[in-house]
Amino acid sequence: KILVIDFGSQYTQLLARRIRELGVYSHVVQYDENPDLEEVSGIILSGGPDSVYAEDSPEIPQYVFQKEIPVLGVCYGMQSLAKIFNGEVRKEKVAEYGRTTIHVEKQNKLFSKIPEEFTTWMSHGDSVVKVPENAEILAKTENGLIAAFHFLDKPFYAIQYHPEVRHSEFGTEVLENFIIDICQTPNDWSLKDFIEHKIEEIKEQVGDEKVIIALSGGVDSSVAAVLINKAIGKNLKAVFVDHGLLRLNEPEDVRRIFREIMGLDLTVVNAQERFLNKLKNIEDPEKKRKIIGEEFIRVFEEEAKKSGDVKYLAQGTIYSDVIESAASGKKTSKIKSHHNVGGLPEKMDLKIIEPLRELFKDEVRAVGEILGIPKHILYRHPFPGPGLSIRVIGGITQEKLEILKKVDNIFIETLKEKNWYDKVWQAFAVLTPVKTVGVTGDTRKYENVISLRAVDSVEGMTADWSRIPFDILDLASTRITNGVDGVGRVVYDITSKPPSTIEWE
Ligand code: XMP
Repeated sequence: KILVIDFGSQYTQLLARRIRELGVYSHVVQYDENPDLEEVSGIILSGGPDSVYAEDSPEIPQYVFQKEIPVLGVCYGMQSLAKIFNGEVRKEKVAEYGRTTIHVEKQNKLFSKIPEEFTTWMSHGDSVVKVPENAEILAKTENGLIAAFHFLDKPFYAIQYHPEVRHSEFGTEVLENFIIDICQTPNDWSLKDFIEHKIEEIKEQVGDEKVIIALSGGVDSSVAAVLINKAIGKNLKAVFVDHGLLRLNEPEDVRRIFREIMGLDLTVVNAQERFLNKLKNIEDPEKKRKIIGEEFIRVFEEEAKKSGDVKYLAQGTIYSDVIESAASGKKTSKIKSHHNVGGLPEKMDLKIIEPLRELFKDEVRAVGEILGIPKHILYRHPFPGPGLSIRVIGGITQEKLEILKKVDNIFIETLKEKNWYDKVWQAFAVLTPVKTVGVTGDTRKYENVISLRAVDSVEGMTADWSRIPFDILDLASTRITNGVDGVGRVVYDITSKPPSTIEWE
């Protein structure tokens, strides 16, 4: 396997992922950890935000040099290698950020089978200005800076750019040259091995203790729950809180799939009335979120108490959540807001397990498929934690929720029927408090406006409204106005994010 030593780069997990794509297992450790070196065939030193000469900047751990394991230093990793072997690193007049062309000056195993000149992705203020003794320069950038070097007396290589970033041409090839050719690492690893490995790890970590997980019915918590269940069976207690703000038939669907098909010890808590009472006459969206979050914690805590001596809280945290929380300045992963269990582990004194922390969304889905979770769960649109409460604009009532569930279901089923469900990132309906005049037969009606919303997005940060063909929107609109009492008019939301948000509240 390849050991990736993390010096704090935002790209470290991307690096790990590229290695996995080559069919090689990669294990990421922090620079101050002390990992087992058995089976390690190569070490990659990641990038990082520090300057190698800054006080307290992380250093390459000593174990790296104890065996003759090949090493590849990337960015900060390259500068650290230069520093420790008495090369020179300095802040040069030119910093290189973004696309930069490099020229290979000396042919070498690392750059074998790739052109002499290619585009790379750089992100550095400091530069190596003198390579260590016994090292030679392999490539320079268009600005004349050192882009790569290697040692003549040991299998140590260094590159200034980030091969893991897609904008770097031949990134995969360079990693492959290092991992497969130079390190001779076998490339027969797959996500199946990941699953087996995780199952063993969870067994070892948890032993005979009990674990609790809040199953939301979304992709991440579902995959985490099924994976942990494979490891510890009935010692995992899954809790699904039915707050009444879910999509049509969702509680029944979750119960059937996870209890009956996947065999989980699943408790479905019917808390519909509790939530509805708390939400009565509440119109402010942030208040709605807060109430739902707090009530969720209460319900979940009560369930945890019922199951006696629980020691662990499992969460479906995935890599994008880890980055988000890092971006917000916290080192440890925050509790997913959509699980609405902020503060829970401290209060209940539970240890956390997060088996999907290293994986990207598509990998989580692939793991879910291997575990046999039905595709409609794995490929479902994202759904907000506060559920339909933020899609009923203004005050929430049971009647309004019933209308919205039916409308939403018609829209979604129509998209599926016309093969558009998978083409949009998220689609849903919003029940507005606006009433407009309509006419059916000879009677005038005065009923609510529904807005349909569908967006194209990557991770929901920005979004464009989806160009769904008019005849599909027409079909959905007709079905909605014919099939659901209380809806007088259907409109389609054609704003992007920014300036609007995806949700209406
Ligand atoms: P916005 O409306 O902020 O939505 O553009 C971006 C994505 O986040 C979802 N969303 C939420 N998810 N709790 C959640 O777990 C929330 O309070 C929440 N608000 C919005 C939204 O559905 C979209 O996918």
